[in-house]
Amino acid sequence: MKVIIAISGGSGVNLGLKILKHLPEDIKRYLIISKNAKTVFKEETNLEIFDDGDIAASLASGSFGCNAMIVVPCSMNTLAKIGCGIADNLTTRAASVMIKEKKDLLLAPRELPYSAIALENMLKLSRLGVIIAPPVLGYYSNPKSLDDMEDFIIGKWFDLIGIKHHLYSRWKVDEIEDKDE
Ligand SMILES: Cc1cc2nc3c(=O)[nH]c(=O)nc-3n(C[C@H](O)[C@H](O)[C@H](O)COP(=O)(O)O)c2cc1C
Repeated sequence: MKVIIAISGGSGVNLGLKILKHLPEDIKRYLIISKNAKTVFKEETNLEIFDDGDIAASLASGSFGCNAMIVVPCSMNTLAKIGCGIADNLTTRAASVMIKEKKDLLLAPRELPYSAIALENMLKLSRLGVIIAPPVLGYYSNPKSLDDMEDFIIGKWFDLIGIKHHLYSRWKVDEIEDKDE
């Protein structure tokens, strides 16, 4: 399986990096960092990252054959561009390829509250089959730390694009497994 991870300029760029850490080894991963995500990285982490201006990269073509793409965090800017078909950098181009090739595209819009514009963009994309999955807290997995909470959210994202993991405890799964036995 080939998966693109695109990090745009929303708060929480570390979540994108954490996804990379947790992806199973047999999955080929391709990382795109937006120019503005670079600024957020400087504010929120101590990493120096390259920008996504390379629209001639392999990922910009449907022929490369990626199975899934995750944009985490997805800024309202990147959401709006993807929603209206703008493909002016490697992230938005690769996202437009995923839509046209009907492959899994997961966007994790990070904003609070969402404006009506952002909600309209999300609805439009959702109707096209794009997975809209913001980083939403979950308590049933009994998190003890921010790390646990992030693992839960990343686990939910992996579920949505069919990646196996053990990042969180599923709701009543033990009970279901007991009944099956
Ligand atoms: C520290 C920091 C945090 C930001 N957080 C968000 C955010 O959570 N959501 C968002 O939509 N934009 C956020 N922005 C603004 C975006 O980075 C800005 O709209 C930018 O144009 C997005 O560009 P991109 O979509 O090409 O990455 C943030 C900016 C900075 C500097």
